[in-house]
Amino acid sequence: MPEVGEKTELDRALALDIVRVTEATAVAAAQWLGRGDEVSADEAAAAAMHREVARMPFEGVVVVGEGEEGDCPIFYMGERIGEGSPSGATLDLAVDPIEGTTLCAKALPNAMSVLVVAERGSLLKVPPIYMEKIAIGPGLPAGVIDVGATPSENLKALAEAKGVGVVDLTVCVLDRPRHGHLIEDIRSAGAALRLIGDGDIAGVIHVTDPVQTGIDMYLGIGGAAEGVLAAAALACLGGQMEGRLMALNQEHRFWAKLSGITDLSKKYALKEMVAGDLSFAATGITDGSMMAGVHYGPDSITTESVIMRASTRTRRWIRTEHADPKKFG
Ligand code: FBP
Repeated sequence: MPEVGEKTELDRALALDIVRVTEATAVAAAQWLGRGDEVSADEAAAAAMHREVARMPFEGVVVVGEGEEGDCPIFYMGERIGEGSPSGATLDLAVDPIEGTTLCAKALPNAMSVLVVAERGSLLKVPPIYMEKIAIGPGLPAGVIDVGATPSENLKALAEAKGVGVVDLTVCVLDRPRHGHLIEDIRSAGAALRLIGDGDIAGVIHVTDPVQTGIDMYLGIGGAAEGVLAAAALACLGGQMEGRLMALNQEHRFWAKLSGITDLSKKYALKEMVAGDLSFAATGITDGSMMAGVHYGPDSITTESVIMRASTRTRRWIRTEHADPKKFG
């Protein structure tokens, strides 16, 4: 696997094509905003993303998708989209048509559509199971965090690296019953908590700018796919992350076995989850801390997106006015 940030041939002109995909996906999802129907929102967003990915000038192979073949009709792992593309290029795809399906269904902040396009073979292939995650921002010595260590040990190490007390640190955690002990441990170590209802890709991204977001560390168990997508964002923004795949139920154990994952104790460093050049794009569905959501004007639709690239560490914010809403179908 290539190294993170290694200069490669991922075409820099792809950026706009990638953003067009997340824009169309976000608009499709927004049509279901606040309607309490997660399934229809997800289906509409996935169909729009699939249609737009098929128009891209390369063949994409789904490495991080909606599930395994036979388990979901589109974006199953290994699906090839745009086969026989004239450019002859084949790239890895990691997709999340709606990150925060519940947020979209309830019209709550921070739902977004996410797409990562990467060099072939550079993304960790993960089945639809969970991942235990820890992440911190850039500019700190290597090896500060360890997904196998206790919250208190990680917090002490981060406080020391930052030259502050644990009491000065804030940890972002998904608000889930499974995190009961984690939450107690963080509080008894002395750190503050920012509990979020959904959306751990944004949660991880927040650690890259603690001054703005007030979040120093991300901890907890969430989707494995979202783990790889968050790692892709950190490869573009800097920061440290470790993950460990987790099978919490029978279904997870089935998918892990089917994917040939035998060692669930393995810790994945950031560069084992994402490597080489990649582009990460996200478009807001609902207003959020990173981007505004989809807004409808009398004659147009406005979207806000971010597109980032690992090899150059460029981050572009794109605000688009779509004067012809009919193009979204
Ligand atoms: P979905 O959009 O797939 O529902 O994911 C939202 C999310 O909050 C992710 O960010 C997170 O990784 C995952 O759910 C956690 O899973 P669960 O809701 O089962 O705790």
